[in-house]
Amino acid sequence: MMKKLMSVASVALLALAACDDHEHAAAGAPTGATCPQGSTLTYTNFGKGFLDKYCVECHDANKTGAARKGAPEFHDFDTLTGFKSVSDHADEYSGSGPSATNELMPEANGTRPIPTMAERVQLSQWIACGSPN
Ligand code: HEC
Repeated sequence: MMKKLMSVASVALLALAACDDHEHAAAGAPTGATCPQGSTLTYTNFGKGFLDKYCVECHDANKTGAARKGAPEFHDFDTLTGFKSVSDHADEYSGSGPSATNELMPEANGTRPIPTMAERVQLSQWIACGSPN
């Protein structure tokens, strides 16, 4: 008579993917941009348009889960307040200045609009001016 062998099923526990599991591109370098004397760049005439066009597809406080396409929490650029809390990071991922040009963000996919170099320079200058409204 065969003994019934009880096999203990070992349950493989799948670790829940933590939100910081995604591939994290190393930040670029601070651009060293300074605020040009007499700069007229504001959120209204520059920042909002730039962020809406190039960043809010993913970095949007109103989006959750997959709709963020991997964009980390607390990096939300749909409001000036959200942007200002991490504007130094934006400089290191998307800005251009005398010390560095950073083109990590937005991630290019062939169809997504990508800022021009002039726009990257303006972004870093606007940040250096304190991202005025
Ligand atoms: C298509 C979606 C998408 C767009 C558009 C996009 N990002 Fe991102 N962003 C991501 C993802 C995904 C990550 C996380 C992976 C990484 O850090 O490389 C990220 C990470 C970042 C980080 C690093 C956050 C941290 O944890 O330090 C910054 C800063 C950032 N993005 C800025 C921007 C800026 C500025 C723009 C617009 C110029 C932009 N992103 C556009 C998807 C996007």
